[in-house]
Amino acid sequence: MIDPRRLFWEARHRDLEPGPPEPSVLEWLPLLRPGLALEVAAGRGRNSLALARAGFRVVAVDYSETGLRILHSAAQAAGLAVFPVVADLRRFVVPPARFDLVVNISFLERFLVASLCAALKPGGMLLFDTYLIDQAEAGAEAAGPSNPDYLLRRFELKSLLGGLELLRYREGLVNYPNGRQAWRAAALARRPG
Ligand SMILES: C[S@@+](CC[C@H](N)C(=O)[O-])C[C@H]1O[C@@H](n2cnc3c(N)ncnc32)[C@H](O)[C@@H]1O
Repeated sequence: MIDPRRLFWEARHRDLEPGPPEPSVLEWLPLLRPGLALEVAAGRGRNSLALARAGFRVVAVDYSETGLRILHSAAQAAGLAVFPVVADLRRFVVPPARFDLVVNISFLERFLVASLCAALKPGGMLLFDTYLIDQAEAGAEAAGPSNPDYLLRRFELKSLLGGLELLRYREGLVNYPNGRQAWRAAALARRPG
């Protein structure tokens, strides 16, 4: 049977551009040393493209073929090292100790977080940024999910990343250049070693 959430995302990505990267990615990119990156739930690849432009080789995983096709075309046109992988992250085996950087933006599967941390090489960095529970109050017009299963509780991200060294952390209302606002938690954390 076809997963309705997957169909939702296929339709949502259709005929759109990748778009601008998440502000935290742009802000924290100068703190990162280029290497091999994994972006989970990469969508149309706005963040993967920014990382590749900064010199990363990026493995971009998502279950939306539509999203990854848009990413692939943009990466090819710009000659960027992005490797799209169509996979359902609920079944995807994230290889341990393989990546210099793991990126998770606007996506939350709590059970996956431990394997994202384990996917880092010693000294590798995790950049995690997604919606807070406060976003559910923002109403139907707002971006992001309203189901609390996909929203972080206040300070939950800090505890999810317990085994890592937190370099940057913030929670609150983010103002986007297009005037949109969203409640989010964001962290940049390092695997010790
Ligand atoms: C809100 S979009 C975020 C995309 C991208 N991270 C960004 O910031 O632009 C969420 C993405 O998660 C993907 N996704 C949701 N559940 C997934 C799953 N189980 N496996 C793989 N991808 C999934 C969707 O296809 C969608 O592209």
